[in-house]
Amino acid sequence: MKNREKSTGRRKFLGTAAGAALAAGAVTQIRPRAVSAQSNGKLKVVLTGTGIRGSGMWGKRIVDNYSDKVEFVGLCDRNSKRMAFVKDYLGLKCPTFSDLEFDSMIQQTRPDAVIITTMDCFHAKYICRAMELGCDVITEKPLCTDEGMCQNVMDTEKRTGKKVRVTFNYRYGPAAVRIKEILMSGEIGKVTSVDFSYYLDTDHGASYYRRWHGYKQYSGSLLVHKATHHFDLLNWWLDAEPATVNAQGDLRHYGFNGDFHSLRCMNCPHKNKCKYYWDITGNEFMMNLYVKPETEDGYIRDHCLYSKDINIWDTMSVQVKYHNDVFLNYSLNSCMPYEGFLVGFNGTRGRLDAREYHRQPWDVDGLADIRVSMLHGESRKLTIPHGGSGHWGADDKMQDMIFRGPIDDPLGQTAGSRAGALSIMIGVTARRSIEQQRPIAIEELVKI
Ligand SMILES: NC(=O)c1ccc[n+]([C@@H]2O[C@H](COP(=O)([O-])OP(=O)(O)OC[C@H]3O[C@@H](n4cnc5c(N)ncnc54)[C@H](O)[C@@H]3O)[C@@H](O)[C@H]2O)c1
Repeated sequence: MKNREKSTGRRKFLGTAAGAALAAGAVTQIRPRAVSAQSNGKLKVVLTGTGIRGSGMWGKRIVDNYSDKVEFVGLCDRNSKRMAFVKDYLGLKCPTFSDLEFDSMIQQTRPDAVIITTMDCFHAKYICRAMELGCDVITEKPLCTDEGMCQNVMDTEKRTGKKVRVTFNYRYGPAAVRIKEILMSGEIGKVTSVDFSYYLDTDHGASYYRRWHGYKQYSGSLLVHKATHHFDLLNWWLDAEPATVNAQGDLRHYGFNGDFHSLRCMNCPHKNKCKYYWDITGNEFMMNLYVKPETEDGYIRDHCLYSKDINIWDTMSVQVKYHNDVFLNYSLNSCMPYEGFLVGFNGTRGRLDAREYHRQPWDVDGLADIRVSMLHGESRKLTIPHGGSGHWGADDKMQDMIFRGPIDDPLGQTAGSRAGALSIMIGVTARRSIEQQRPIAIEELVKI
């Protein structure tokens, strides 16, 4: 990680300088503009962060499916080589801007909305700046990675009157929707407690430790980066807001735990014995997106997952008490033979069990099994069919809602900054709880 760390000195300075200018109100204000169709009937957007999620979900999918509704007027990334490759891949003609040119980009291109798909730790900086400059925001999860950033986003949104939309695609998955409908129907009565376990496997789960996600300073740890999805689902399913958090976490498999350590998979002397060896050279797209541009920022995409400086946890346990007195027991384990989740809601009239299968070494029927069992009564089982590609069809549904709306939203799937904040704050507070070894009230850290 040496090269990447070297480059953060400059970045840190930029972040500080931009923040100071912002605080002093020194930067030219741009007239606010609502997110609505412009004269050509299209939403003008700029994409900030042209990595895998930016180029795919918020790049190629938009170009392919929503060109009649959405027009890219600018791209922004701190790596110009990656951005040039993505511009070409998407067939766009719009101008490109470095991270230092974010303000100029907004001033020149006058977008209606800024789409944010950078590393997690920079979301808040761009969310706030975009709103200050008069734009609405569509941001990838997590909203941000710590309590200070969270407070800034909430305060800036209130002050500017602009809107943040957090793209919680998991809310649109077919099993998540069915669970929400059953809970809303009142069939199992009032929920009193929940058990939720999420499993990440030795392929996808392991990949987090190869990337920037393995460092708290970039991702806020998996309690923020990954668990933000799960905590948002729980808050949404329960229609409740979290109050206090107690957590445990440890790194038991990856990082310093390895028997050998290297810089990266490419040319690794241990590749014949390492079960996690991953050959990026076999994937032309990944070579263009990451390996060729690495000369510019030093970011190594096939970084050794046994690097001794990895500082996130792979084994996590969190207890949450909600304001409506629901108890949640949550666990996240990222070195598992399969992926998916197991959830159980205990209600005053019955229990709802659900098991969602993502990546299994054995055959399963459909995406998920749900069982509803009544106290002293009957039990019924539902099999939820797989919804398709892109997070079980969720990505398509969410983008339709964003770009082809307004569409009725009876389940309240649209998520704003408050949902984003409440979900990351369970993870951030869990992180503080692990560090300080005590239960912590979320209100100690932020006023949402
Ligand atoms: N909702 C989902 O299911 C889902 C899935 C994948 C990723 N994501 C989110 O999407 C975001 C991007 O993830 P990714 O996997 O594409 O990562 P990535 O590393 O592939 O891409 C990140 C991009 O941001 C750029 N960048 C980093 N710091 C920047 C800065 N300060 N200014 C401008 N550009 C900067 C990098 O150069 C890179 O191009 C993350 O926030 C991640 O949490 C969400």
